[in-house]
Amino acid sequence: MAETILITGATGTVGREVVRQLVSVDSKVNIKAAGHLLQELEKIIEDDRIKSTQIDFNEPETLRDALKSTDKVFLLTPFQSDMLQYSSNMLAEIKNAGDIKHIVKLSVMGAEFEPGGRLHLQAEKMIEGSGIPYTFLRPNAFMQNFVNFYSHIIKEKGTLSVPAGDGKVSFVDARDIAAVAVQALIGNNDGKHNSKTYDITGPEAISYNYAVNILSEQVGKKISYVDVSKDDAIKAMKDISLDEWLIDIILEGYNNLRKGYFSPVTTVVEEITGRRPTFFNEFAKEHAEVFR
Ligand SMILES: NC(=O)c1ccc[n+]([C@@H]2O[C@H](COP(=O)([O-])OP(=O)(O)OC[C@H]3O[C@@H](n4cnc5c(N)ncnc54)[C@H](OP(=O)(O)O)[C@@H]3O)[C@@H](O)[C@H]2O)c1
Repeated sequence: MAETILITGATGTVGREVVRQLVSVDSKVNIKAAGHLLQELEKIIEDDRIKSTQIDFNEPETLRDALKSTDKVFLLTPFQSDMLQYSSNMLAEIKNAGDIKHIVKLSVMGAEFEPGGRLHLQAEKMIEGSGIPYTFLRPNAFMQNFVNFYSHIIKEKGTLSVPAGDGKVSFVDARDIAAVAVQALIGNNDGKHNSKTYDITGPEAISYNYAVNILSEQVGKKISYVDVSKDDAIKAMKDISLDEWLIDIILEGYNNLRKGYFSPVTTVVEEITGRRPTFFNEFAKEHAEVFR
């Protein structure tokens, strides 16, 4: 009988790609796409094999419904202060369901280094302790952050101001993360992905200054990188009403970035998917329009 895979976070950056790629690489699997907002879910139903299911990680009965007749789960919790509780609620319902064969959890590279990551780490420990087969995907910062978080300011002011110094990051394309997730979900008949933790990176470590220069070339206009002070970064984040919780985490992240914690490059994408990961200049070329 065809397997059914529940994709949580299916309307977000990574989950949407997991759904899209599952549809194109496996013609047999049944896909349950789970998201929070109905109007977002409606946008991603592009194939008959995708069934949408509305969930709220705070409402266990919605998780129970979504898990009915499900074999495997891609677990993606949004980056929010409640995310550990979300994972705990989901795991409780997965255990109740009793027949889930595999959890593929999206975590973060360097989970042990910072407070946001440590929430992922605690969720990983809970899953490990459950005895249910798991695979942990730990990606580095997404290339899509430039589109999702920085494109509006780059468009408006022609600058990107972050306290990153000349620290390097092996940014990864979310589509490459999704490709690894898909292999972990459908290429695990022999259990080779069980109990594995994969650090997922792009093919090179680059500074923000370098990334912005690449964007300038591809977009065809001058974009400048400004290495702002911690105080200026705090002010800018307060101006856009970010939570204190998030501001602290972001600052610690930049601190670790400047120390080089996010510069390691791994070969996971190529090893698991058989093709090399996307370079930043390829990503920038494809997405240039968003920054114009
Ligand atoms: N950005 C990075 O550089 C980076 C790097 C490494 C790891 N990560 C990790 O990646 C994850 C975020 O992935 P992403 O960027 O793909 O996510 P995203 O685009 O922010 O999407 C979040 C998803 O979670 C859903 N959601 C929100 N609140 C929910 C709730 N209460 N119950 C159920 N679903 C809910 C959203 O549904 P709706 O659209 O319907 O609201 C959406 O599908 C986080 O765990 C983060 O720590 C991020």
